[in-house]
Amino acid sequence: MILNGGTVLDPSMKVHEVMDILITDDRIEKVGPGLSTQFPEEEAFDCTDLWIMPGLVDMHTHLREPGYEYKETIRTGTQAAAAGGFTTIACMANTLPVNDNPSVTRYIREKADEEGLIEVLPIGAATKGLKGEQLAEIGLMRETGIVALSDDGFPIRDAEILRLVLEYARRFDLPVIDHCEDLSTSKGGVVHEGKMGTRMGLRGIPCVSESSVVARDILMAQWLKVPIHIAHVSCKASIDLIRWAKTQGIPVTCEVTPHHLALTVDDLFLSKYDTNFKVNPPLREEEDRKALLNALKEGIIDCIATDHAPHDTQSKMVEFDYASNGISGLETALPLILEVGNEAGISPLNILSKMTIEPARILGVERGALTPGSLANLIIFDPDETWVVNPQEFFSKGKNTPFAGRSLTGRVKATFYHGKAVFLDKKNPWGLTPICTRKPS
Ligand code: DOR
Repeated sequence: MILNGGTVLDPSMKVHEVMDILITDDRIEKVGPGLSTQFPEEEAFDCTDLWIMPGLVDMHTHLREPGYEYKETIRTGTQAAAAGGFTTIACMANTLPVNDNPSVTRYIREKADEEGLIEVLPIGAATKGLKGEQLAEIGLMRETGIVALSDDGFPIRDAEILRLVLEYARRFDLPVIDHCEDLSTSKGGVVHEGKMGTRMGLRGIPCVSESSVVARDILMAQWLKVPIHIAHVSCKASIDLIRWAKTQGIPVTCEVTPHHLALTVDDLFLSKYDTNFKVNPPLREEEDRKALLNALKEGIIDCIATDHAPHDTQSKMVEFDYASNGISGLETALPLILEVGNEAGISPLNILSKMTIEPARILGVERGALTPGSLANLIIFDPDETWVVNPQEFFSKGKNTPFAGRSLTGRVKATFYHGKAVFLDKKNPWGLTPICTRKPS
C-alpha cells in the first residue's frame, strides 16, 4: 500500500515535507519522494493536502474496564483513541478491581487483544488498592506486561512508601508516574483556590497542594537517583521546581493535559458552573496556563497526555460539589493542542514530538516514529477541516467535555494500526465506507 503525496510530519526524523510512504504488511518500508509511480490505484491513498503523522501515544488514559464499564470499556475507549489519532495508550490502574495484581493486568491485556482497536499498555498500581500503604505485586505485574507504576487519582502520601516504590521501580525497570496532591490542603476543594473560586462560593485547591508534593518527589528522585514522572502538571510553581530539577540533572519528567493548556478557572466561571469543567487538578489561572505553554516551548514539559477520564451522565449531572472529576479527552486532543500551540508559537512538529516519541521514551517503548522498518502505526490528518465538537458523536461513552460546541480546525481522517485501517472518518476523501473497528487479521 502506498500513501501518496501527503505532507509527512515526523519528529523522530525531523521532517516536515511532501513525501510518499510505502507500507508492506505491518511495517513502513520506505519514506521518500516519487515512490508512487509503479502502484495500482486500488493500493494507493491520495494524501494531497493532508498530513501523514505517526500514530499518537497517550501515556495517561482511563479506560475504566474492569469495573466501570458504564463509563467506558476497552472497546469504546480504543475506538475513541483511534478516532483521535492514537495508536498506543497506557491505561491507569484505578479500575474495579484495581490493577494491582497480575490477574487484572492479564485481564486487561487479553480484553485489549480481543476487542481493542489499537495498542493498550496497562499501568500497574504502585500500592495495593491505591491506598498508599503496601506495595502492589510489582514484579508479577511486570512479568504480565505493565509498562509503568502509578496510583493516579491519588498521591503516594507516605514518603517512605514512595521510596520503596522507587526502589522496586528501579529493580524492575519501570517508570513511576505520580499524581502530586497534598490531600490535607486540597481537602474538600473542587476548584482552583483564588479570587474566582471565592466569588463562585466554591472551596478551593491551592497550587501549593500540587507544588509541595512535586518538590518532595524531585528531592526523592535526586536522593535515590531514580526517575520520577509528574502527572498532569497544572501550576506555574510546579513548573519552576521542575525547571530547577532539570538544571540540576535530577531525573524528573512531566506531562501536561490539553485542557490545562486550553482553559482556566475563568472559563469554568463563564460556563456557569458546568461540571464538565471539573477536573483534578483543577483548571488554574491565566498565569499558570501561560507558564505551561512556555514550559512546553522550552522543553521543560516532556509530553502531552490526555488524562482521558470518561464519566457517565449521572456522575456529572449533580451539584458541582458532588460531580466526578474528569474530562473525556481523546477525541479532541490533537486539533485542540495544535490550535493552542499555534497561538503560542509552538510548531506542529514540536507538538507532535510531545505526543509521540517523548511519551514513548518515558514508557520505554519504541513507538511514535515513521522510520523505515517501524510498525505502520500512522494517521492521515486534514489540517484545514473545521468542525464543531459534538459529544454525542464521540465514540467514547464519556460525553463529558468542556469543549462541546467549540469549533476546532484539523481532523483525523484515517488511523492505521500495524498497516491496517482501524478508523476511517465518515467524511473521508477517498469515498470509502467509514470504519471504527478492528480489521480481521
Ligand atoms: O480529573 C481526574 N479524573 N483526575 C484524576 O486524577 C483521576 C481522573 C479519573 O479517574 O476520573
